[in-house]
Amino acid sequence: MRPESQIPTFAPMKNSNDTFKALISHCKEYGYVFPSSEVYDGLGAVYDYGPYGSELKNNIKQFWWSAMVKMHENIVGIDSAIFMHPKIWKASGHVDAFNDPLIDNMTSKKRYRADVLIEEYVDKIQAKIDKEVAKAAKRFGDAFNIEEFLSTNARVLANQEKIDTVMKRFTTATEAGDLAEMKQIIVDAEIACPESGSREWTDVRQFNLMFATEMGSLSAESNKIYLRPETAQGIFVNFLNVQKSSRQKIPFGIAQIGKAFRNEIVARQFIFRMREFEQMEMQFFVRPGEQKKWYDEWKSRRLAWHKALGSPAEKLQFYDHPNLAHYADAAVDIQFQFPFGFKELEGIHSRTDFDLAKHQEFSGKKMQYFDPEINENYVPYVVETSIGCDRTFLAVLSNAYCEEEVPNAKGGTDKRVVLKIPAPLAPVKVAVLPLVNRDGMPEKAGEIIDLLKYDFNTQRDDKQTIGKRYRRQDAIGTPYCVTVDTETLENDTVTLRERDSMEQVRLPIAELKAKIGEKVSLTELLKEL
Ligand code: GAP
Repeated sequence: MRPESQIPTFAPMKNSNDTFKALISHCKEYGYVFPSSEVYDGLGAVYDYGPYGSELKNNIKQFWWSAMVKMHENIVGIDSAIFMHPKIWKASGHVDAFNDPLIDNMTSKKRYRADVLIEEYVDKIQAKIDKEVAKAAKRFGDAFNIEEFLSTNARVLANQEKIDTVMKRFTTATEAGDLAEMKQIIVDAEIACPESGSREWTDVRQFNLMFATEMGSLSAESNKIYLRPETAQGIFVNFLNVQKSSRQKIPFGIAQIGKAFRNEIVARQFIFRMREFEQMEMQFFVRPGEQKKWYDEWKSRRLAWHKALGSPAEKLQFYDHPNLAHYADAAVDIQFQFPFGFKELEGIHSRTDFDLAKHQEFSGKKMQYFDPEINENYVPYVVETSIGCDRTFLAVLSNAYCEEEVPNAKGGTDKRVVLKIPAPLAPVKVAVLPLVNRDGMPEKAGEIIDLLKYDFNTQRDDKQTIGKRYRRQDAIGTPYCVTVDTETLENDTVTLRERDSMEQVRLPIAELKAKIGEKVSLTELLKEL
């Protein structure tokens, strides 16, 4: 079992640190994400979702759930408990092998993940190569041939050699679980503590990522249970309950959205790596021998989902795992280009019959399916798609966050920060703005809200100038603003302003529902699948 965090990524780091910092503070200022327990100075790598954040998260979950359960006759959903029988984690391999290699710096007393130190070292060298390429591209202009440059430039070749050597040693050490070699790579590469600059390292040790607690009133080893580190096992152990109660025939899938917990050693990059997070997982049960076909099918279906969610094709890539976990016969990540580089957003794994067979062995209960078409009993094979809800949230916001110069009323320009969240996912769909808070406009705004609130998340915004209100709604990501003015009181028409184009049209109140509905419905995204 290899936590996803140990899978190296080779893509160059993009230096968009400032945008990322701006996005994090925007999330706090506009009620998307707050550090957990902030009044007590926070709790490492735990976050709370604010009023807009929880709406966006719910919409992402709804889109995923609909794409799985509503769009497929042969996928059903469950909601299993977080606490599970401790033997489950023994059977799944998590008790013995769900580990990260950690190392301490003796000077700073800081603890690091050995694999992350090595990965960051590789990223730094890759950044040097990228810099050389950018410089040469500028110097040679149209005549620049990147392949030729990469295969002939002496500095690039030397740096590439360094990366290849370290990655080869790292991959072999990871596969063999060779912790001494992992330390030796850090020593040989002269990797220093980012905090103290010291190269005084302890040995590398394994650290289990599961959180344990006790069930019942007595603290004893036999009462020890774990907070689930993945939702998948709740699906595996319910496989026959679900299959029988929902009368599914293979191939069929079980979907689940729920919390998972991992005691991450290095928890950084905002909500990318958290200790408490949410997964959206689907286990697809297939006939043995048919897993490759379904693995390929789910790769393409999941990529289509990410594109429908608004991620541009160039920000998505497949990354095949070079070393497979013992239970998998194929595994790929869908990586997204976060502000800090291409990183795993979703995993698609062909897990063979490993999990069901292990639960059969550890529980003593049959996990077999009788296939009426071929008249055979077998333990099904499983292709899983597993995506982090929080990482998807971060991907959506990374795509959406935009700083723009826009014309103002005085003929100059203003800066606007706008979240161009796909309208069906936006937390608030429509804000209703009475131009002034008198002359019957607030009452009219109330009537419009009453008309729209059954179909859309609406918000009244009546403080400050209209310009400032538009900026506020842009910053929240509201796709539509409806302004109530004197003309509204005369003829029941309003202006409808669209967030991205900032275009305004005048239309009758009676047409608002249809006009807004056509853009903000999840159905439009689902039709793209
Ligand atoms: N059942 C398979 C499984 O759990 P994984 O690659 O360990 O596979 C699946 O996790 C997804 O869960 C990842 O692709 C990622 O999006 C999300 N994830 C994993 N660890 C996370 C963490 N510490 N914080 C936020 N999301 C995480």
